[in-house]
Amino acid sequence: MEQTFVMVKPDGVQRNLIGEIVQRFEKKGYTLKGAKLMSISRELAEKHYGEHKEKPFFEELVGFITSSPVFAMVLEGDKVVSSARKLMGATNPQEAAPGTIRGDYGVRISMNVIHGSDSVESAEREIALFFDRGELTSYEKQVSVWV
Ligand code: PPS
Repeated sequence: MEQTFVMVKPDGVQRNLIGEIVQRFEKKGYTLKGAKLMSISRELAEKHYGEHKEKPFFEELVGFITSSPVFAMVLEGDKVVSSARKLMGATNPQEAAPGTIRGDYGVRISMNVIHGSDSVESAEREIALFFDRGELTSYEKQVSVWV
């Protein structure tokens, strides 16, 4: 089963969108394996966004993600990496389709509410960066018992 890393960015936390966003992934059927509200250090932000170090917006990106707490989570499910990105919508909220998280709540590209891993490899790297193994649960959902 695939896992992905998703975080509600500072703008989403400030605007009380954590519950709404978690609900979208839960309702879709993905399993929450771990989650926490946390502040990101500059060191962690630079590692997380390391591949964008040369981009003109790097400082803005790091400054924003360290400005206020984020809500980090690990989701599990079939093809969850690409599906979570579809639920999130296009990076630029002005181009994101209505019904997606960024399409419904995002205002501009520098404040686009949510981050999600862009590949299985990135997901593995980002999960290891943000979570200790002990913070992730290993339960399976007993779907047949509940429906
Ligand atoms: S790129 O250029 O295609 O590699 O960038 P992209 O993968 O689309 O975006 C990488 C992260 O940078 C954020 N981003 C920006 N922030 C501020 N200003 C501008 N202009 C900008 N362009 C992209 C974008 O939201 C991505 O952040 P995450 O947290 O990964 O969603």
